[in-house]
Amino acid sequence: MSGHFNADWLDLREPVDLAARSVPLQKHLASILASLSAEECVIHDLGAGTGANLRALAPILGGMQRWFLLDHDAQLLKLASERLVDWCIESGGEVREARAGLSLATENWTAEVSMIQQDLSSTLSEGMSRADLVTGAALLDLVSAKWLEQLADSSGGAVLYFPLNYNGSMQFRPALEADSKITELFNRHQSGNKGFGPALGGQAPRRSREILTSYGFECRLDESPWHLSIEEERLQQELLKGIANAASELSDAPGQVDGWLAQRMASLDRGQSHLIIGHEDILAVPKGYLP
Ligand SMILES: C[S@@+](CC[C@H](N)C(=O)[O-])C[C@H]1O[C@@H](n2cnc3c(N)ncnc32)[C@H](O)[C@@H]1O
Repeated sequence: MSGHFNADWLDLREPVDLAARSVPLQKHLASILASLSAEECVIHDLGAGTGANLRALAPILGGMQRWFLLDHDAQLLKLASERLVDWCIESGGEVREARAGLSLATENWTAEVSMIQQDLSSTLSEGMSRADLVTGAALLDLVSAKWLEQLADSSGGAVLYFPLNYNGSMQFRPALEADSKITELFNRHQSGNKGFGPALGGQAPRRSREILTSYGFECRLDESPWHLSIEEERLQQELLKGIANAASELSDAPGQVDGWLAQRMASLDRGQSHLIIGHEDILAVPKGYLP
């Protein structure tokens, strides 16, 4: 999977991501941010896509929030704006056009939101050093170790929260002989360049913890696996096709990958496919941040 993502894929994964996120880590994040004396919580969301991270976090964080949604894809940011308007109204809130963006207000929280088109591989978020929270969902497996080091170095004391990073583990039911080979090929593909240099890929949780710890952050990780049953048939289809495409790019036996995909799709057609895709959430707090 490259640094370009289509909105259909992000839509398919949003409810599954929402269910997968670690609740204890979210609660811990909310209590840390609530302890800040600032009237408004400033949040930079890196690789924001259509705004799923805001939809997941805003109701949990509560209070007054100021969001900057950054992505290199202008089309996704346009959709983010539309989706946030619809979502806020459906949640019983009110929406106003505001300072270069949107102003969302509900009973329990308000959010001023700006969309910023930016290639984060070359420039990190401007003003990030003044943020209370720097976040990015499903992002760290795409970035390189060097990029994360730069982020850690320039985050200016913000709390970092990166949920839903792929951890290299995939379980397929029913099991097939080729599963481990396909997983190995897919994981190798995931560590290729996704626009930020050699990607952390399936090593993202482990390597991110090492990097952030070495930059003086105290890290907490928790698992946030996807459990995909027949209810998630469309997501399974797209995911299996994506895995097979990536694996076949590196395979010296493409017939094996095609055969694997055909058997997987047949299981899905029979309503018998269950997948567990490993993810981990990371919360990193600068040392000495909490009183
Ligand atoms: C896996 S998607 C996650 C989107 C969103 N955070 C979510 O949870 O639905 C990764 C996002 O990173 C963005 N992205 C990838 N490479 C980027 C880059 N170089 N600069 C800025 N955004 C990038 C993509 O456009 C995409 O929206």
